[in-house]
Amino acid sequence: MNEFIDRIAAAGDLRALDAVRVELLGKSGAITQQLKQLGSLDPEARRARGAELNRLRDALTAAVEARKQALEAAEIAARIAAERIDVTLPPVPDVVGSIHPVSRTIEEIVAILGAMGFAVAEGPDIESDWNNFGALNIPAHHPARDDHDTFYLAAQDGEARVLRTHTSPVQIRTMLREPPPIRVIAPGRTFRADHDATHSPMFHQCEALAIDRDITLGHLKGCIIDFLRAFFGIASLPVRFRASYFPFTEPSMEVDIGWNRRSGEIGAGGDWLEILGSGMVHPNVLANCGIDPREWQGFAFGMGVERLAMLKHGIADLRPFYESDIRWLRHYGTPACAPVTLHEGVA
Ligand code: DAH
Repeated sequence: MNEFIDRIAAAGDLRALDAVRVELLGKSGAITQQLKQLGSLDPEARRARGAELNRLRDALTAAVEARKQALEAAEIAARIAAERIDVTLPPVPDVVGSIHPVSRTIEEIVAILGAMGFAVAEGPDIESDWNNFGALNIPAHHPARDDHDTFYLAAQDGEARVLRTHTSPVQIRTMLREPPPIRVIAPGRTFRADHDATHSPMFHQCEALAIDRDITLGHLKGCIIDFLRAFFGIASLPVRFRASYFPFTEPSMEVDIGWNRRSGEIGAGGDWLEILGSGMVHPNVLANCGIDPREWQGFAFGMGVERLAMLKHGIADLRPFYESDIRWLRHYGTPACAPVTLHEGVA
């Protein structure tokens, strides 16, 4: 017995311990073998020997378990000691960081639309199914849901949840929180189960929402045209509004800018490039947020942040945005000491 206990205690790592365990307690281990031989003893001897072997087995099992816990604790302690990071190290002096193009583009959007009176609103990445779809006039089984490649999460408190597939649910959150008039923009992370050179499972969008008593399609057009011209720094940028469909707007329009497909030059004539989605907020969406659509109306639009950054800076591939390659960041990033100003345009 003591010899067995000593061997367990001597096991230097989890693998050695497991070998001892199998040797003693495994299917063809020493104890198991002896238990099997009980049948050949007479009843009295069998009872005594059986009880003894069971005690021995229980003691050895407990010893193995205790040794296992000690070894695991030692392993964790060793890893904690080995993986320690010295946070007091001074910074490397010649590596200067830069503002990531996604952050910079969001700053530019906020600067332009902020100057028009829009305030920044936020919402969580994990959103209720209702805010992401239902309240936006996209009922369950609506075909528009199929476009979104949604990451569904486990329900919480009986409420179905998703990783938000667009920033549009921030429209809902804002209208539920504050009474109109409303002017907000909502930049932030969005998620779709999609991955290739131009799609990432996590990307960024910016939403805009304006609600007032007499907001018209003319306001929508003026706002978007002014925004795009300021963003690309091209005063004569051609902008086209094309009838489209979104469940949460009526009428809905996709917005195109003029460019040259062959050279990629923005603002050069010839071809049209889709840049964002927009429309007049659907009466059902207002009503879902307790806003009377006979009294209030407004417009909304939504755009992809990476897409805007790629077009403005001629970036062909989406993947490096998330790879943290210092050479890419140095090339496409912006010096941290160059704040966005509007007085010469943001380009
Ligand atoms: N949420 C849409 C999308 O993710 C974009 C969009 C279209 C937003 C029209 C809007 C809008 O606010 O009015 O594709």
